[in-house]
Amino acid sequence: MRPPPRTALGFLLLLLLPPTPDAARKLTPCQQCRALVDKFNQGMANTAKKNFGGGNTAWEEKTLSKYEFSEIRLLEILEGLCESSDFECNQMVEQQEERLEAWWLQLKKKYPDLFEWFCVQTLKVCCSPGTYGPTCSACQGGSERPCSGNGHCNGDGSRQGDGSCQCHIGYQGPLCKDCVSSYFSSLRNETHSICTACDESCKTCSGPTNRDCLECEEGWVRVEDTCLDVDECAAETPPCSETQYCENVNGSYTCEECDSTCVGCTGKGPAKCKECVSGYSKEDGQCTDVDECSLAEKACKRENENCYNTPGSFVCVCPEGFAETEDACVQTAQGEVPEPEENPAQPQPPSREDL
Ligand SMILES: *[C@@H]1O[C@H](CO)[C@@H](O)[C@H](O)[C@H]1NC(C)=O
Ligand SMILES: *[C@@H]1O[C@H](CO)[C@@H](O)[C@H](O)[C@H]1NC(C)=O
Repeated sequence: MRPPPRTALGFLLLLLLPPTPDAARKLTPCQQCRALVDKFNQGMANTAKKNFGGGNTAWEEKTLSKYEFSEIRLLEILEGLCESSDFECNQMVEQQEERLEAWWLQLKKKYPDLFEWFCVQTLKVCCSPGTYGPTCSACQGGSERPCSGNGHCNGDGSRQGDGSCQCHIGYQGPLCKDCVSSYFSSLRNETHSICTACDESCKTCSGPTNRDCLECEEGWVRVEDTCLDVDECAAETPPCSETQYCENVNGSYTCEECDSTCVGCTGKGPAKCKECVSGYSKEDGQCTDVDECSLAEKACKRENENCYNTPGSFVCVCPEGFAETEDACVQTAQGEVPEPEENPAQPQPPSREDL
């Protein structure tokens, strides 16, 4: 029997598809280059004083400066650049080894910034900070302080993007100089703009306090020159249901469920009930379980019957050795042994003196 063709195709696709974790951490060429340069700079730091114990004699000074630019040191740095399992990194190092060596031996003095020389000018996969796109144009607002320092320049430092500004919270406009609603401008000159959040009571404002509101936020009302919280819970028609109580908070309110012993309530817990559910009564102002078994009027009315209190109610049970009839618990035949399989966990054996 041949397997259906769809199964075979599915299996083939499974073999061809790359495993997802690799796809997820695929870096852009610029990110790859930047990671390599970071590792390289780390390697330079790690090897900076290697094999030298301090105490700079003339001999050491000379040897140190020789080591500083030596191939041996370069090899040490190159070896530490990639994890052995990182195929792309190792491939890149292999391809770029000659260039890195040229920089190391001849160009390091003239171009001390490896990222700038390698990723921006040589490989042309990145741009300098504050510039973007195929030709490394200046970001909106200039490369010195893109987006007025209040946003991210799209494509900043890469060969991608369009240089437009994605403003930080509170800012808007093509250069992120303007304040969004509920923020006010606390500083503004040719180069700098700082927006600060209004008080929570303001929808719009000209300053930091609840006296600086131009409009009050919802849930707040103007009293003279100040926006004050509205107490929604004090409204003529209360906003919460019969089984809830209302709690006022700044700008709003919440409805919370009453305690389970309450019928209606004014707050949290059994002490804030308006009335109690059946089986509970107010004791010291708190809805408390009624012990029906200790009331003057007997709760269990049949003869010989035992009473057990439960939360909110009670149960009536005939004692062991008694049988239930319509209007009494009747003692069964003398000496009869209770059947062991019948409710072995039942409490209250009245007496065991006949054992
Ligand atoms: C603008 O304000 C900033 C921040 O206070 C300040 O550092 C800068 O010198 C000011 N620039 C001008 C042109 O006044
Ligand atoms: C409520 O608002 C007032 C006035 O704006 C403020 O002083 C107070 O701290 C606020 N309380 C809370 C809990 O946020």
